[in-house]
Amino acid sequence: MQQQSRAWKKSGAKIAFVPTMGFLHAGHISLIERARKAAGRNGKVVVSIYVNPTQFAPNEDLKKYPRDLRRDKQLCQQAGVDALFVPANNQIYPPDFSTFVVEEKISKPMEGTSRPTHFRGVCTVVAKLFNIVLPDVAVFGAKDCQQAAVVQRMVRDLNFPLKIIIGATAREPDGLAMSSRNKYLTPDQRAQATVLHEALHEAAATVRNKPVAAKQLRAQILTHIRTRPQARVDYIEFFDPKTFEPVSTVKRGTQMALAVFFGKTRLIDNATL
Ligand code: PAJ
Repeated sequence: MQQQSRAWKKSGAKIAFVPTMGFLHAGHISLIERARKAAGRNGKVVVSIYVNPTQFAPNEDLKKYPRDLRRDKQLCQQAGVDALFVPANNQIYPPDFSTFVVEEKISKPMEGTSRPTHFRGVCTVVAKLFNIVLPDVAVFGAKDCQQAAVVQRMVRDLNFPLKIIIGATAREPDGLAMSSRNKYLTPDQRAQATVLHEALHEAAATVRNKPVAAKQLRAQILTHIRTRPQARVDYIEFFDPKTFEPVSTVKRGTQMALAVFFGKTRLIDNATL
């Protein structure tokens, strides 16, 4: 992959990269389209598929994470992807692998609290993928806003010579953010899962005309989510979209993120209110 990228760079082609864990959906495809736009007609679009074990905790869904490489290949071909990079576990992590990348600030709250080793795994694999693929730009989804911010910080702090682009969240017609994990939901849970998107809308509507105390808004949103019997809230946070510092007063432009369990399936969503 690195040799191919070097050859492309030598010929003057720009490289745009979309890292994924596969089981591609319309959200991934929209990032691939964004990458094509960034690369230009003569540029190259690279997609990676790698279910990265270091970002899963031992109790998480690594083993049953959905996979369908045949279908993913077809989708990438249809989307005009120039290279699909699918490394094997022993290529990414040789048995005596012992170097990790840790972002120490933005990765702490929210996903970092619920999944303490998650972003260490994400940063490590993304740094490795950047060094292998040598992209000029890499595209990440707004759906995982904390991940995008952590990667952006890593790129700045460690001087990776590339630009991060953030693509909008692709949603199902009823508002549920597309995710490979939606596949785990029972029909009943799937119907109730629209509550994440509803919560974001309700919060945005509540602060449209006047700021509201975060504590009060959280309580209001919790009450709404509890109308869905299968929903179990992990976190609801209001924070500054640039610093990821929590705010005590929520107003227009505040970022909101939430994580909600349906059974063992944990869904996340976020929006700028
Ligand atoms: P994965 O969950 O496969 O997501 C790959 C990319 O697609 C991420 O940038 C994610 O934010 C984006 N994405 C997911 N759902 C989306 C949606 N509904 N709309 C728009 N973009 C969406 O995120 C990962 O993989 C991994 O952590 C990875 C970065 C590949 C490192 O292992």
